[in-house]
Amino acid sequence: MVNLNKNKSSKISLSCLLLLFLQHLFSIGADNYNLYHAVEDLAINCGAIGNSTSDLDQTRRTWIGDNNSNDQFTLIEHEKDSVSASATQVNPSVKQVPYYTARLSFSEFTYSFRVTDGQKFIRLHFFPATYGYFDRSNSLFSVKAGFYTLLKDFNASAISEESFFREYCINVGQARSLNITFTPTLTHKLDSYAFINGIELVSMPTNLYYSKPGGEELKLVGHGNSFPIMNNTALETVYRINVGGSPISSEKDTGMYRYWDIDDSFLEKKYEHSLPAVYGSDLRPKYEIIPSYTAPDDVYLTARSYGMNATTNYNVTWNFKVDTKFIYMVRLHFCELELTLTEANQRVFQIFVADMLAEKRADVILWTGYNLVPYYKDYAILFDKSGSSKQLNLSIKLQPVQTRFAYDVILNGVEIFKVSDIGTGNLAGVNPEPRQSPPQSLVPPTKPPKRSKVTTVVATVAGAGSGIIVLSFICFLIFRRTTLASDNNRNSKLRHIPLAPSKSSQSYGSSLPSDLCRYFSLAQITAATYNFDEVLVIGVGGFGKVYKGYIDENNTPVAIKRLKSGSQQGAHEFKTEIEMLSQLRHLHLVSLVGYCNDENEMILVYDFMARGTLRDHLYDSDNKPLSWKQRLEICLGAAQGLHYLHTGAKHSIIHRDIKTTNILIDEKWVAKVSDFGLSKIGPTGMSQSHISTVVKGSIGYLDPEYYKRQRLTHKSDVYSFGVVLLEVLCARPPLLLSMDKHQASLVEWARGCHKNGEIDRMVDPFLRGTIVPQCLNRYIDTAFNCLLEDGNQRLSMNDVVWGLEFTMQLQESIEGGLEVVNKREEIALLKNSVNDVEENDVLFMSTDELSTRSKTSKMTTER
Ligand SMILES: *[C@@H]1O[C@H](CO)[C@@H](O)[C@H](O)[C@H]1NC(C)=O
Ligand SMILES: *[C@@H]1O[C@H](CO)[C@@H](O)[C@H](O)[C@H]1NC(C)=O
Ligand SMILES: *[C@@H]1O[C@H](CO)[C@@H](O)[C@H](O)[C@H]1NC(C)=O
Ligand SMILES: *[C@@H]1O[C@H](CO)[C@@H](O)[C@H](O)[C@H]1NC(C)=O
Ligand SMILES: *[C@@H]1O[C@H](CO)[C@@H](O)[C@H](O)[C@H]1NC(C)=O
Ligand SMILES: *[C@@H]1O[C@H](CO)[C@@H](O)[C@H](O)[C@H]1NC(C)=O
Ligand SMILES: *[C@@H]1O[C@H](CO)[C@@H](O)[C@H](O)[C@H]1NC(C)=O
Ligand SMILES: *[C@@H]1O[C@H](CO)[C@@H](O)[C@H](O)[C@H]1NC(C)=O
Repeated sequence: MVNLNKNKSSKISLSCLLLLFLQHLFSIGADNYNLYHAVEDLAINCGAIGNSTSDLDQTRRTWIGDNNSNDQFTLIEHEKDSVSASATQVNPSVKQVPYYTARLSFSEFTYSFRVTDGQKFIRLHFFPATYGYFDRSNSLFSVKAGFYTLLKDFNASAISEESFFREYCINVGQARSLNITFTPTLTHKLDSYAFINGIELVSMPTNLYYSKPGGEELKLVGHGNSFPIMNNTALETVYRINVGGSPISSEKDTGMYRYWDIDDSFLEKKYEHSLPAVYGSDLRPKYEIIPSYTAPDDVYLTARSYGMNATTNYNVTWNFKVDTKFIYMVRLHFCELELTLTEANQRVFQIFVADMLAEKRADVILWTGYNLVPYYKDYAILFDKSGSSKQLNLSIKLQPVQTRFAYDVILNGVEIFKVSDIGTGNLAGVNPEPRQSPPQSLVPPTKPPKRSKVTTVVATVAGAGSGIIVLSFICFLIFRRTTLASDNNRNSKLRHIPLAPSKSSQSYGSSLPSDLCRYFSLAQITAATYNFDEVLVIGVGGFGKVYKGYIDENNTPVAIKRLKSGSQQGAHEFKTEIEMLSQLRHLHLVSLVGYCNDENEMILVYDFMARGTLRDHLYDSDNKPLSWKQRLEICLGAAQGLHYLHTGAKHSIIHRDIKTTNILIDEKWVAKVSDFGLSKIGPTGMSQSHISTVVKGSIGYLDPEYYKRQRLTHKSDVYSFGVVLLEVLCARPPLLLSMDKHQASLVEWARGCHKNGEIDRMVDPFLRGTIVPQCLNRYIDTAFNCLLEDGNQRLSMNDVVWGLEFTMQLQESIEGGLEVVNKREEIALLKNSVNDVEENDVLFMSTDELSTRSKTSKMTTER
């Protein structure tokens, strides 16, 4: 009887799970409809000037530079000797904003915030690098927020080589102000200093983590007493885990920018193969009891269970290292995902927290009434205080209780907070132990399970389990590949940023060609831009700002790029760009009108491109979407510009930074390649087919071969251009780290769609139905042949130009309704053009062949 029931249920759940899993694999990431809107949402980019956004952050959150205090915060220094600086050595896995700049000081400094009253998150972001003469090993400091000590004698460089952050919850009272003070610890060493890269102050829903007055209080596990989290305590988040799921970046949180880690590294080894359950994005948790902002849907839609195994003799166990000196608050998130379970008393289990019984009969459906209803339970843990700080495992163990129906457990999420000491307000352990705290949205997954292990698991676990494990393993590998690829891409941010502007920035005027382009005086430039009026700013980047101005008695509009003065890098790129551009003239290259180098300014004057960048016409903007034909024309133009760079100019030139923001569009929709700051004169002699160089370029566009071997060839541009082609077709950025793992990288995602014959899925919805299928195939072939791993196999820009021209003709001729005129020829034509990617020998038709064919199709049109 029992067995019969069991088998039936697991069969149903198998098909259900598999189906949902597949849906999950191939569905577009669910957007969050359950957002919390923070009253206060302040992100300070310490050591930076002006506002910035992280280019990996889809939400484009503004990080405010701390140089200009405003009505929300003031920087108070007693000695006025703090320094803002950029990291001297950078790490490719570290986000530029807010981590590359810091405020550092040998004496105390305070950020004083004026905020509303209420409970807030404080996040402190650190990147313990060396900043000029601030050696990374000398940082040692304490941080206080109001009454609370957040960090004491804190040695950030002992924690990590990478960036990390610490999160706290604090209640701001009626004073409506909060001082966060950084104090170097001078008792150990006289050259200790304090530093900070970023501070977030974000309001949280009242009583999300604090106890409601009169509400249910936390149970102090093992003592029977209750333990409220009062407004006079502060909390530090030590772990926040999406059990059985994938990492959730701060941007994908419910509006509070919390980061959710995965549970793999905390799960005890022998339970590694417990089942991660993943449900489709068409399912929504039903927030009937707790508010929908409590945790992202993904936390509740993924879980770990053990798979209805007919034994009660196990404890699925997670271990979290904590400092025993403190009291902890543990929040466990639950949501019954097994849709065949609908009643209480079906899945029942015991919960042990720190080996103390916390729940004798945990029964999610009994708590919530039905499946898919999220719920959480809070517990307080008090360790046996032996006085001194000690690292211990805080374990969470789930053991099934026998019921008629199943023997299984389930857990969806875990949050663990350290509670401040009531008397002293202290949250700091004396010597912080290293803790892995990955940067907010860039989370490398833990090591993949070894292949052999997975095989054994598949062999031993029957039925439902094996299918899911294999699937999730595949999924995992896809994710691995994507993240590895993006790791590589991130390296492109390896730009050296010197500490302070050097006063010796010399003038390049003498060595620059003034015969080829105009020299402007600073007076002319200031007149053209009304003294760099902010109103005229049309673009901002790492280099500085771009203004729209008028020259020649206000008749000619120009784009005036004012590079930030002082940086060596900038000076070098300034010179490169002038030298390159003044020798190049092509319809599809942005023309340099002139430059100005007066008073150490580095200003470049270009033709004004009325319609801005290509990206502005693809996504994240209010512009009308481009038609397919417009897109083809723009791509073709850009390809011609790039082809000219590669072969047509006096020296062969490799652009090195091809991306949709470097393809500009003029009034007449003519595409022009711009931004030659990173360009290199290509290899010249026959013997030399590449140049060795430090990897530069832009994330998401970087040729993996160039990155791996540091050898720059023209084919690196071809790769980037392939990314552009996909971006134009799919209307999405090359990297979306906040997306599902299999969708994060545009290239990987598109390859997946292509392989699965789901090309339609990747096409910009706006274009659907407007592209002739044959044309689409040809276009995609061209793109993928730009993106081949092996540079030698990739198309040349010449091939790309031909391929696009041919695509355009296909579109025009077939769209013109004339495709039936010569059916036989048409079929022959398509046979050759479609789906031959896999066969290396027919990778692409020769150009002769192509031109004959395009002529043929033209003739067809004209008839
Ligand atoms: C910076 O961002 C803040 C908040 O979004 C805004 O109030 C301020 O005007 C911005 N400053 C500049 C110079 O753009
Ligand atoms: C802000 O930047 C200016 C130079 O741009 C510098 O002189 C000033 O000291 C900076 N202020 C702070 C508080 O760092
Ligand atoms: C804590 O403070 C918040 C507002 O700051 C208030 O709404 C809440 O009721 C307070 N909680 C207690 C237990 O007093
Ligand atoms: C901080 O830790 C690092 C690495 O453990 C060590 O080399 C350095 O000396 C420490 N710095 C201080 C000031 O204690
Ligand atoms: C913050 O610090 C400033 C300067 O030390 C002080 O004047 C102010 O009263 C402090 N505010 C609070 C709330 O402690
Ligand atoms: C599960 O863990 C609890 C607490 O440590 C322990 O009492 C119990 O015996 C364990 N059960 C099994 C089957 O190991
Ligand atoms: C804590 O758990 C880990 C495994 O997750 C184990 O390797 C380690 O020995 C445990 N430490 C203690 C003190 O029990
Ligand atoms: C049941 O669990 C045991 C471990 O307790 C494991 O060895 C066995 O393979 C599992 N059986 C099935 C059918 O999942």
